[in-house]
Amino acid sequence: MKSNGLFITVEGGEGTGKSTLVNSLYTYLTERKERFVVKTFEPGSSTLGKEIRNILLHRKELVISGRSELFLFLADRAHHIEVLIGPALREDLIVICDRFSDSSIAYQGAARGIADLDTLEEICLFATDGLVPDLTFYLDLDPKIGLARIKGEKDRLEQEVIEFHERVREGYLELSRKHNDRIYKLDASKTPHEVFKQALTILEDKCSELL
Ligand code: TYD
Repeated sequence: MKSNGLFITVEGGEGTGKSTLVNSLYTYLTERKERFVVKTFEPGSSTLGKEIRNILLHRKELVISGRSELFLFLADRAHHIEVLIGPALREDLIVICDRFSDSSIAYQGAARGIADLDTLEEICLFATDGLVPDLTFYLDLDPKIGLARIKGEKDRLEQEVIEFHERVREGYLELSRKHNDRIYKLDASKTPHEVFKQALTILEDKCSELL
């Protein structure tokens, strides 16, 4: 997919402050008034995606195998690209997305063990028709701290044992080492403002000509 759009994703484990960073980046880029900005998330941004999200996270009575879980996330993503991300990028907008393929690789690959990371990357590329973010911020945090931040009832994935969340973190760390020209690790134990400042420095440095 060739365009002058800019595709930014924010990744991380549970309770790492992803949506706070997405909101700060959105506000900052919108206030610059140079490019239109779209803020979105996975899973569940489309009408179809909302149904898939409900199955994946809240229908706890359903038994969902690891492989079907993976393909449900990918179905949500393929449709999200079709109806929202793809058209926005073709219109040269900036798209900021809370989670994308790296989530599937960390959660379904590293943590669930469905397949090794390279295989998972291939499967994700098929689902996204080759779309890869231009820039990804990975919010790194000890999962014990992240999980302790979650309030209210936990969804199906948040309920997983601590070892699962530790493997998610390992997966993200491996991905950020492998793709160090795209994925930037931020210290999510810092205040939201400090995390935002770290992200902004990288954004200005990497993408100033596209902003
Ligand atoms: P969500 O309520 O959106 O929470 P969060 O603030 O953590 O993003 O829940 C999404 C959950 O789905 C989260 O536990 C991560 C998981 N997930 C996957 O396992 N694979 C994926 O491909 C995606 C997009 C999310």
